[in-house]
Amino acid sequence: EVKRISVPQLAACKGQRRLACLTAYTAPFARLLDDYLDMILIGDSTAMVGYGLPDTLSITIEQMAAHAAAVVRSTSKACVIVDMPFGSYQESPQQAYANAARALAASGADGVKMEGGAVMAETTRFLVERGVPVLAHVGLMPQYVHTMGGFKAQGMNDAAAERIFQDVLAHQQAGAFGVVLEGVAEALARRITQELDILTIGIGASPACDGQILVTEDILGLSGPRIPKFARQFADVGAVIRGAVEQYANSVRDGSFPGLENCFGVKK
Ligand code: KIV
Ligand code: NA
Repeated sequence: EVKRISVPQLAACKGQRRLACLTAYTAPFARLLDDYLDMILIGDSTAMVGYGLPDTLSITIEQMAAHAAAVVRSTSKACVIVDMPFGSYQESPQQAYANAARALAASGADGVKMEGGAVMAETTRFLVERGVPVLAHVGLMPQYVHTMGGFKAQGMNDAAAERIFQDVLAHQQAGAFGVVLEGVAEALARRITQELDILTIGIGASPACDGQILVTEDILGLSGPRIPKFARQFADVGAVIRGAVEQYANSVRDGSFPGLENCFGVKK
């Protein structure tokens, strides 16, 4: 029996092999992804991708914990990390610990991810010292949409890049096992990966990162006509679903579904 990849096992992959990671929010996707990935993230991107909201700000810890429980129940191999949503951790290390503990207890996930630079390093330390593995998330942080004034690439000049480098260093010193680098200059992501010891998981970052993550719906053609510059569509599952649903609707309307084989109490 293959055991689920633990956070320390994931961290030990640094410099050994590249890590393939994706998001999952529900059981069917989690089940399909599990054989192929090192890490599955229950991203708060489900607010936008799964709930059709304009940003990630209004999803709650209870919703995230419920999605995480569905993903854990439906997987047995990949390490499972759950995103801490907006407002569930920024107030204090104590608030972060209480909500992280709830999410992990309710779901059985392996660790949490939190957005924020060096200002959040104290919280990272508080959680790690109390048994909650932390994946940091710097650069483009969607929960900062209002202070950033939109979703745009970060660390694009030397001063901004140095600030982000220091952010990651602070999380490393605080005990984070890794960091998601989102929407940052390529050279910065490469430098962080080479000079620091923690895992770098890139999304719009660099091929030099220790691993990559994308939103699953983006690679499958399930998130609308436009995908971000940093994503690549690997299949058009949307077209497959449309075709199947059209056939179903036609079959209902022309009376060819259900067949008698789908009915109960019919003698052959
Ligand atoms: O919410 C999310 O899906 C994420 C990843 C894409 C890194 O934070
Ligand atoms: Na997220």
